[in-house]
Amino acid sequence: MQVDLIKKAVHILNQGGLVAFPTETVYGLGADASQPQAVQKIFDTKQRPADHPLIVHLASQAQLFDWARVVSPEAYRLAQAFWPGPLTLILPKQEHVLASVTGGQDSIGLRIPAHPVARALLEAFGKGIAAPSANQFTHLSPTTAAAVEEELGAKVDLILDGGACQIGLESTIVDVTGEEAVILRPGMISAEMIAAVLGQVVSYRSEASQRAPGMHHLHYAPMTRTILIRKAAWPDFLRGNADFPLALVTHTAMTVENEHIHRVQMPAQVEPYAHLLYQTLRDLDHQHFACIVIETVPEDAAWDAVRDRLNKASARP
Ligand code: TXA
Ligand code: MG
Repeated sequence: MQVDLIKKAVHILNQGGLVAFPTETVYGLGADASQPQAVQKIFDTKQRPADHPLIVHLASQAQLFDWARVVSPEAYRLAQAFWPGPLTLILPKQEHVLASVTGGQDSIGLRIPAHPVARALLEAFGKGIAAPSANQFTHLSPTTAAAVEEELGAKVDLILDGGACQIGLESTIVDVTGEEAVILRPGMISAEMIAAVLGQVVSYRSEASQRAPGMHHLHYAPMTRTILIRKAAWPDFLRGNADFPLALVTHTAMTVENEHIHRVQMPAQVEPYAHLLYQTLRDLDHQHFACIVIETVPEDAAWDAVRDRLNKASARP
């Protein structure tokens, strides 16, 4: 990334503008987290409800106490283990933090991303950047600059292009405000990885008890009707299905001979699967299929984040 583009981005942020930038998870829609009007632009641009809190991105742990009032030993251990990286920590917020950033809650989401462009931007800016995923509310998160362009286009002042996001799914969110760490959103930093660092089992907070409304099921969905199907149920489904043409997304071998079915073969390993998932769904969404059928993924914990996003992708009524 050229230095002058980063300079331009910093200037725009200081002026209260919006800069979309790559992170290793997904692209973010960034604004100066300390300027109320700039933060408001994020909500207007995404058409995001005001009570959905934003993640504030930082360059380094030296900035942690600018935003967090308390950092528990558990929080600190997770920060040491996974930052910079695809982890967001929910911490008690400092007094001055804008209510629009936290959705009026007493906590704040903080993340130090690892992507070199995000780091260059955060270091040059020197302050916190509030950044949700750079998509319209409820849409799929963008994992390329072209996808940001498609989602937000002229509404952003600048899009920094850092290529395709390596991970491709949003960060793992861990609430460390209480006595026990709780995962609010699964990501590629798994529950097992977190448990290994903390030396104790961590649980997921169920959606029903979720305070953060951003977790609700309408997130991360293609516009095309999307259905999850176990491989064993596929023959029955096909017999009863009248919705053609359809796209069939599988990660195991399946023989399908039907000219109205478009096959997409995904990798059988979770990392490359996650990396391709949103771009694949976005591409399929452009092709006017009657529906997108996705083979369910393995039950084991390594697939938790992918399974979570597939459940959300198939939740549009
Ligand atoms: O990977 C990511 O996390 C990306 C990149 C750009 O960093 N960002 C992202 O932001 O996914 P967004 O706004 O699309 O999702 C952030 C989620 C929301 O669901 C929100 O509810 C939750 O984080 N969140 C933020 N602050 C919170 C808080 N104080 N308490 C609970 N949840 C919070
Ligand atoms: Mg989002």
